[in-house]
Amino acid sequence: MAVTILAIESSCDDTSVAIIRDGYVLSNLIANQDIHKSYGGVVPELASRAHQANIVPVTQQAMLRAGITPAEVDAVAFTRGPGLLGSLLVGTSFAKGFAITRQIPLIEVNHLQAHVMAHFILEKDKEDRIPSFPFLCLLVSGGHTRIIIMKSHFEMEVIGNTIDDAAGEAFDKCGKVMGFPYPAGPLIDRLAAEGNSQAFTFAKPVIKGLDFSFSGLKTSFLYFLRDRIKEDPDFVEKNKADICASLQSTIINILMSKTIKASHETGITEIGIAGGVSANSGLRKEMTEEAGRRNWNLFIPEFRYTTDNAAMIGITGYYKYLRGEFTGHEVTPLARY
Ligand code: KG4
Ligand code: ZN
Repeated sequence: MAVTILAIESSCDDTSVAIIRDGYVLSNLIANQDIHKSYGGVVPELASRAHQANIVPVTQQAMLRAGITPAEVDAVAFTRGPGLLGSLLVGTSFAKGFAITRQIPLIEVNHLQAHVMAHFILEKDKEDRIPSFPFLCLLVSGGHTRIIIMKSHFEMEVIGNTIDDAAGEAFDKCGKVMGFPYPAGPLIDRLAAEGNSQAFTFAKPVIKGLDFSFSGLKTSFLYFLRDRIKEDPDFVEKNKADICASLQSTIINILMSKTIKASHETGITEIGIAGGVSANSGLRKEMTEEAGRRNWNLFIPEFRYTTDNAAMIGITGYYKYLRGEFTGHEVTPLARY
């Protein structure tokens, strides 16, 4: 019998609801919250209020698109954490309410694990291409930068981690310095496509092993701009594309060198990228070229499954459902998970 999962993601500023049936996405809706743009970052209280307003209509739409009724849902998967507590609370409470009303299992999902599990999402009318184990995944999001060995769907070993900022934060914070709205990653990506990546040089960290650091780059970027703006107040406006291309290429360089090192040290050539920063066109291109040179079997998720989405929560929930891993109704969200 088919297994249908209703999945809820509300860890940060996007309210997303998906319907997954037997690993295939029937619908995946995301309501973005524009309200944070002018604040230069996510305002937690505004985020939870927007989740409250969005969650019911987005769920109704997701079911409508999937062509299902609440009676057809077999289990509810939701993001338990990590994330903003108030935001998580909205999704968790809604998931609980739905599960209790329908008397169906509740399944908690770790948001980070779900980003990696996005590689197992299947879509009708598309080739069923999923990684085999062991699988090496570079997880790059707004809050995390990690290299993970996935030994099975549920056995993940973190072999590299950021010691300060995440890659997404590096994009967002440097963007903020240039006066870009939050999140700056997508805009830097677009501008970088028209710029010269060799135009400017920024500090690259020297960190041993497979760990990452981005705070030195951020500081170097800040001082660089401060000095140039002193000479010419219009420096950013005149050189936007070149600045973005140089910054992006520095970040990609850091990510690529550690991924190559990890593959080399572990001998794993089944490689993937996940998380919001994996939407970056420069990183996707670089990964594809490197995969060609090194004979990697490369997995790059569809754009819609890179940034926060409920389909990744649903696919993780589906695999947990198959294992009978359910959550009690006393569950509470975890800001750190
Ligand atoms: O995974 P995600 O949606 O949320 C977290 O779990 O953190 O990642 C959000 C991050 C933000 O920092 C955003 O700037 C970055 O992903 N991002 C990008 C791009 N699209 C999103 N960074 C670079 N290039 C992009 N195209
Ligand atoms: Zn995320």
